[in-house]
Amino acid sequence: MAVARIAIVGAGLMGHGIAQVFAVAGHSVAVYDPFPETLATLHQRIAKNLGDLGLDREAVDRVRAAPQLADAVADAGIIIEAAPERLALKQDIFAELEKLAPRNALLASNTSVIPIGKIAARVKSRDRVLGTHWWMPPYLIPLVEVIQADDTSAGTITTMMELLRSVGKIPVHVRKDVPGFIGNRLQHALWREAIALVQNGVCDAPTVDVVVKSSFGRRLAVIGPLEGADMVGTDLALDCHLNLLPDLDRTPGPLPYLKNLVEAGRLGFKSGEGFRKWTPEEQAALRGRLTEHLKKMALELDGPQKGRMTA
Ligand SMILES: NC(=O)c1ccc[n+]([C@@H]2O[C@H](COP(=O)([O-])OP(=O)(O)OC[C@H]3O[C@@H](n4cnc5c(N)ncnc54)[C@H](O)[C@@H]3O)[C@@H](O)[C@H]2O)c1
Repeated sequence: MAVARIAIVGAGLMGHGIAQVFAVAGHSVAVYDPFPETLATLHQRIAKNLGDLGLDREAVDRVRAAPQLADAVADAGIIIEAAPERLALKQDIFAELEKLAPRNALLASNTSVIPIGKIAARVKSRDRVLGTHWWMPPYLIPLVEVIQADDTSAGTITTMMELLRSVGKIPVHVRKDVPGFIGNRLQHALWREAIALVQNGVCDAPTVDVVVKSSFGRRLAVIGPLEGADMVGTDLALDCHLNLLPDLDRTPGPLPYLKNLVEAGRLGFKSGEGFRKWTPEEQAALRGRLTEHLKKMALELDGPQKGRMTA
């Protein structure tokens, strides 16, 4: 695919990682963030990631930090917004992008759960607005959900899917603009039941995690849930559902147990305690194990030559 001019809006956790993926694949990337202190560390963060992955740091030279949005997007063909997950903020950004970016530029949001149609509410040229939901860290997780909103053109989806494939990603087409798309709907359905089990005294939080990590979690990278249902038989799946589904949690909003944690300031790693206590050493150890595991999977499952890390 021809080298595209990419602009990333937001230089945080996701923005800098997405910029890295395109830069490693040879594209020029401009990255905008309104906070100079965040832009000041952009190159350093990307260089560190590349060093940790054992990759050449020359890709950093293809990334440009842009303190003005107009400058970042002026000649971009593809723009990916990775600003905070607030609807009003994203709506403002997309309204600005329509004014500042070339008419044929694709405008994508990396929102985790907000429908793309809502984000594009004030955009007139909505045929070029879509979702690209990347996963953290973007340079190690291959999937990108490509979300088609009501007004997104088929050509917009095709162009983005081709671009993502060309940089080593696994794009999937999400055909309806539902909140949470595919991955986060599945993930949060699991989290709701996990929290309900703890809230109802069935087990404690560490036990939930041991059960998942030591049982079906081990299979999930190889066999997805519906492949699993086919393997055991859809008749068995139906029998399980007849007995089990009436008892699963169906609370429509967040569970009281989770709300209480947040109200008590138990925010997880950032406060040192969430469902359980976390020392800084335990946090670093878990992050390290996760990165090593993802690197190994990228090499073993995706293959070094396809190189999700190298693009
Ligand atoms: N962190 C994840 O695991 C993850 C995964 C997938 C998707 N997302 C989504 O990606 C988006 C970004 O998340 P993140 O984790 O990178 O957050 P982050 O807080 O690390 O980064 C957001 C960046 O946006 C910048 N910003 C603030 N106001 C802005 C504005 N008006 N214009 C442009 N940039 C602005 C901030 O300075 C910050 O650098 C969110 O929509 C989030 O839901 C996050």
